[in-house]
Amino acid sequence: MAEDPIYLGLLGFGNVGSGTLQTLQENRQSIALKAGRPLKVKLVADVDWKRPRPVQVDISEDQKTEDAFAVVEDPDIKIVIECIGGLEPAGELVLRALRNGKNVVTSNKELIAKRGREIFEEADRHKVDIRFEGAVAGGIPIIRPLKESLAGNRIKRMMGIVNGTTNYILTRMTQEGSEFAAALAEAQERGFAEKDPTDDIEGYDAVNKLAILASIAFESRVNVEQVYREGISGVGAADIEYARRLGYTVKLLAIGEDTPEGLELRVHPVFLSLSHPLAAVGGVFNAIWVQGSSVGDVMFYGRGAGVLPTGSAVMGDVIEVARNIQHGATGRLACTCFSDKPVKDIAETETKYYIRTAVKDRPGVLGKIATVLGDAGVSLASVLQTRASGEAAEIVWVTHNVKEAKVREALDKVRALESVEQICSWARVEE
Ligand code: HSE
Repeated sequence: MAEDPIYLGLLGFGNVGSGTLQTLQENRQSIALKAGRPLKVKLVADVDWKRPRPVQVDISEDQKTEDAFAVVEDPDIKIVIECIGGLEPAGELVLRALRNGKNVVTSNKELIAKRGREIFEEADRHKVDIRFEGAVAGGIPIIRPLKESLAGNRIKRMMGIVNGTTNYILTRMTQEGSEFAAALAEAQERGFAEKDPTDDIEGYDAVNKLAILASIAFESRVNVEQVYREGISGVGAADIEYARRLGYTVKLLAIGEDTPEGLELRVHPVFLSLSHPLAAVGGVFNAIWVQGSSVGDVMFYGRGAGVLPTGSAVMGDVIEVARNIQHGATGRLACTCFSDKPVKDIAETETKYYIRTAVKDRPGVLGKIATVLGDAGVSLASVLQTRASGEAAEIVWVTHNVKEAKVREALDKVRALESVEQICSWARVEE
């Protein structure tokens, strides 16, 4: 093994940054052997050196800086690890590093999802690596499997639980029978949800991740605006209970499918059949289920966030880049978006639907609603009626496969019926 080190520079010493350095520190010998050369941290940039860190990492005073630009300008540094997050200043720093001929490893999903094209083009221009395994589903290997191990396949479909916060909340609602607000408060208390949880619970985080995964899987650049999004704040304890009675569990899924009419891209709560492997993924865990043309079904499961799991993903990328540096092979795994596929509108989605209606408990109501649904072309698979209180009852409907446009049209007509109090909720169903 060559003795001269490859120098690393780290931008941002928060959770992911410290997890990355702890991984390096703990496994330094074997990492050096795998990389072919020792990996040495030359500079670590952070704006606040006093805040507490989640793990203990030894950094000497001469490695510390508050000037992130000093890292991307340092001529010795060959790999810049970006763990700041957000669009700026991370974007400017990553582009500067690439222009300076440095390879970049990042865990920044927002940056890759929203400015991926610009970043890949810059990396390509300078024949350097840009790696981002930690940007999607934390410690779970999914970017490189899609780009490398499954490269011989045409990816037809994928479904993922890619947000741990929402999976934790839905799991607790299922276990406890609690309402969304109580489960969210508990998740916040236990540190599984942010003080401002909007990004997670409204599905924005999952949209960024799906945009990245779909761009790679379907070889076509997906913009975040093209992904349909619904969060989980409208899911009630009653929906979770009906799901259980009907043989489903409620999950926030990121779904991508390559269809002859275009890409289907959506993030929303799903009534997922208990027999699907993703149904067993509980708590903060993430999983991505992929259907390849040759491999068939594969599923990737693990911790989608956390100091060391994400550090593991980042370090794996760093080692791969170090190997490429030694073999003069950087820049070989550039952008794989070869085509520009159209994206289908959500109204064109065809799936099964769950519909929960509150109605007046009178003779003939069930028949009237069934007729309206039938006239709109919505065929029913099952019906469940319960008496809620007094004169009111709830009727839950599960449809056969039907276009969403037809369901929306039918729901408008059902809503207008005098005997219907309200449509309490409706959701898409995956078998
Ligand atoms: N907030 C994310 C989650 C983790 O809850 O899964 C970071 O991507």
